[in-house]
Amino acid sequence: MKHETFHYENIEAIKAKFNEIGACPPVAENIGTLWDEVSLGAHSLKNRFVIQPMEGCDGTKAGAPDELTKRRYLRFAESGAGVIWFEAVAIVHEGRANPRQLYLSSETAEEFKKLIAEIKETAIQKHGFAPKIIMQATHSGRQSRPDDAPKPVIAYRHALYEKTRPIPGDECIASDDALKALEEKFAEATVLAQEVGFDGIDVKCCHGYLLNELLSAYTRPGLYGGSFENRTRLFRNGVDAAFSAAKGDFIVTSRLNIYDGFPYPFGFGVKEGEGNTPDLTEGMKLVGELYQKGMRLLNITAGNPYVNPHVNRPYDSGGYMPEEHPLEGILRMSNCTETVQKAYPDMVIVGSAFSYLRQFAPHFAAGAIENGNCTLAGFGRQSFAYPQFIEDLKKNGEMNPKKCCVSCSSCSKMMRMGTVAGCMVKDQEVYLPLYREAVAKQERGNV
Ligand SMILES: Cc1cc2nc3c(=O)[nH]c(=O)nc-3n(C[C@H](O)[C@H](O)[C@H](O)COP(=O)(O)O)c2cc1C
Repeated sequence: MKHETFHYENIEAIKAKFNEIGACPPVAENIGTLWDEVSLGAHSLKNRFVIQPMEGCDGTKAGAPDELTKRRYLRFAESGAGVIWFEAVAIVHEGRANPRQLYLSSETAEEFKKLIAEIKETAIQKHGFAPKIIMQATHSGRQSRPDDAPKPVIAYRHALYEKTRPIPGDECIASDDALKALEEKFAEATVLAQEVGFDGIDVKCCHGYLLNELLSAYTRPGLYGGSFENRTRLFRNGVDAAFSAAKGDFIVTSRLNIYDGFPYPFGFGVKEGEGNTPDLTEGMKLVGELYQKGMRLLNITAGNPYVNPHVNRPYDSGGYMPEEHPLEGILRMSNCTETVQKAYPDMVIVGSAFSYLRQFAPHFAAGAIENGNCTLAGFGRQSFAYPQFIEDLKKNGEMNPKKCCVSCSSCSKMMRMGTVAGCMVKDQEVYLPLYREAVAKQERGNV
């Protein structure tokens, strides 16, 4: 269905539009379940709100948290969310997506330690509990730009990506030895993450970054391409490495793309000859293996923010107008998450992409939880725009529509322009001047 911008006055209007496009995800009138405590092994999550990982591109050159990083996380700490899923943190310098991406190393560990302690202390002071903080461990793969110039590390030649972003030479294709060497890095990252005070590590396998790209490396020869076993090797071994390095109750989890949104042979979660239609057969097999390894927390996501961002985060405006209605994107994400959660009811599954639904999102989140479609509800863009929404919900039973994210993609645009990322619409004081500066710089560059 044709794209439309957000114009709904109430939940009934959203339900009607969902029904027009095919089906309406469950909606709850009462959102009380969002404050339920959830058990995760020895851990207790104090409510069902998750601040999704949102990269701020505001670290120091060495990869330590800087002033704006601290500001973002203290806002998240004050939000009262049960889980803060810390943004993508590189596990090797060459895997950083930009020179200001966070990088956990012996050099930066002390600064991470201070920040984690401050997040927990702030939350305890305000809410009486510390959120669980999960570190997202990443290698940016094709998007690597550790210093000033792009230095892509790719799994295979990806025609859909490279149509607009060609990469000359073959040295960018990661060798089997280089991939093998990375497996151990997940163990090292686990040890460091635990030392600095994180509660868990996410072996990131989403959004087109290296581990996720490998899942569709059907055409790659060697140990990391071709068969399901080979394509999932780095991910599975990274997870094993994390489990064997983790001590005690340290959580090992993943943010997993269950569907990439590209046709075979360029995407995971599709079948040969069936275009972009999701096929979760392999994804479910992979989730089964993660379950067997002992993983009980999983954050389900989809799409690729560089090529088909509307799949990952349905929006009103972005770099292009998608062919589909934003609610179709939400329904797809909801169906994918539901499939995983229903197959593994004792896993704690995090649902993604609720922010588009603005002040009505909590009713869809509570509906999804009550229907057994997910256990926790993740909020990404809304957390940049309006991290106080959880408190407002608790105090007033509703969110303030004027403070909600308007899914304008400015936060991503800031990232792509090479500046820091934040909400220049609802957190104007800090981010509007930075946005304007980046636009002016880009225009000067284009003259
Ligand atoms: C500026 C920006 C930065 C993001 N950074 C990350 C990240 O570091 N790791 C990740 O897994 N997802 C990242 N995402 C994706 C979000 O976590 C989330 O999946 C997406 O925005 C859809 O959820 P929402 O509708 O609640 O915003 C980012 C998204 C944006 C817009």
